[in-house]
Amino acid sequence: MANIVANTVWQFATASSVKFGRGCRMQLAEQLAIGRWTRPLVVTDTTVGALPAVQELIEALRSRASHLTLFDACVAEPTVDVAGQACEAGRAAQADCVIGIGGGSNLDVAKIAATVVKHGGKPSDFFGFDQIPGPVLPMFALPTTAGTGSEVSHSAVLTDTRQSIKVSSLSRWLRPTGAFVDPALTDSCPPTVTAHSGVDALVHAIEAYTNRDFSEMVDVDPQARAYEGSYPLTRLLAAEAIRLVGRSLVTAYQQPTSRTARDDMAFAAMLAGMAFSNSGVGMVHALEYPIGALTHCGHGEGNGLLLPHVMRYNLPVRIREFCDIALWLGADVAGLSQRQTAERAIEKIEELLRLVGIRTRLRELGMSRESISELAAKSFTIRRLMDVNPQTPRLSDLEDILHSAF
Ligand SMILES: NC(=O)c1ccc[n+]([C@@H]2O[C@H](COP(=O)([O-])OP(=O)(O)OC[C@H]3O[C@@H](n4cnc5c(N)ncnc54)[C@H](O)[C@@H]3O)[C@@H](O)[C@H]2O)c1
Ligand SMILES: [Zn+2]
Repeated sequence: MANIVANTVWQFATASSVKFGRGCRMQLAEQLAIGRWTRPLVVTDTTVGALPAVQELIEALRSRASHLTLFDACVAEPTVDVAGQACEAGRAAQADCVIGIGGGSNLDVAKIAATVVKHGGKPSDFFGFDQIPGPVLPMFALPTTAGTGSEVSHSAVLTDTRQSIKVSSLSRWLRPTGAFVDPALTDSCPPTVTAHSGVDALVHAIEAYTNRDFSEMVDVDPQARAYEGSYPLTRLLAAEAIRLVGRSLVTAYQQPTSRTARDDMAFAAMLAGMAFSNSGVGMVHALEYPIGALTHCGHGEGNGLLLPHVMRYNLPVRIREFCDIALWLGADVAGLSQRQTAERAIEKIEELLRLVGIRTRLRELGMSRESISELAAKSFTIRRLMDVNPQTPRLSDLEDILHSAF
């Protein structure tokens, strides 16, 4: 690692507490008892709610909490309306804490419910950076995919179907009170979910590792700075996440019963979440948000498809970092120049994406070439993500990237 430069201050935050390990989900009931929370709102979806490992947990919670309310109407890539329904359920039940069980979609709806039940209003009142006035209801996050890192992150992402755009709330108050990362919950993920969510974790780690350095972020207004830029602690976390994804994503995809691979991926996703929710995701996410809202592709697949194209754009200013990534992904770089090694990182990622079945062309998602300029314009407005990208793009750069991925 490069020398530590301490002239500029960075800060780090994550969930208030983290438990990690097979079976740790069953310790949640005890945690509720310690906090004297008796009216939990459980937010999930019908697929996840039907998993034996989840039913066992909900039964245990029911036996300890006097008034458990189950909201199981979440959907993947959740809409603002679905989040509004979860808020209503929590309000009607006078919930005193919220438990999110599921992939990032359910965890994000749980965060919004914890916010609205505490502060009143509606989900859209809290969109944007730092719009939540104070602590939300205690919120516990149990991820069932190894991907988003929402269990430790400060954001919640919803889809606004009317304007066909993804909307986010980002706030220090959205970091869960407790993350219960139990890899056993991910054992049942079908290969496509494993692939998409695992690729999302990889993109989080790569963007966190390669984003602008925190010391260069002085030109971004601190009041509007949702992310710190890359710094030593986030680079450490991201590096380990990239290494673990390189080691285990393909195995988790091809051999869903491999516990070792599932454990690696659950850990990798959490580390990547710790990294990106401080240093930031970047241009890949900025480009994916409008595409995901338009085509309804999975967030991780859209990100994976775009990643090599954005890396090619960033390559001239991130040679050293891409060389690191090539090594962590186990690329054979013998005899290659630095530039060639950096390019090998991108090729290695393309190989990995192919192995886990990620589509490679935007047109395969059902998008038209004519929509590119409008999509690029929408991405261009997501300043918090453009501000941390290693190169500040012009609108035409975004259009070029989308054309190359089309
Ligand atoms: N808040 C954040 O920090 C953050 C970060 C990245 C992405 N996101 C958001 O998270 C969402 C994507 O989340 P995701 O990739 O985890 O997928 P997901 O939550 O959308 O789940 C995808 C599908 O997998 C199913 N599923 C989940 N776990 C399962 C299991 N163990 N067994 C069987 N089926 C299971 C779900 O029922 C769902 O149908 C997007 O909306 C994205 O924008 C949020
Ligand atoms: Zn993501």
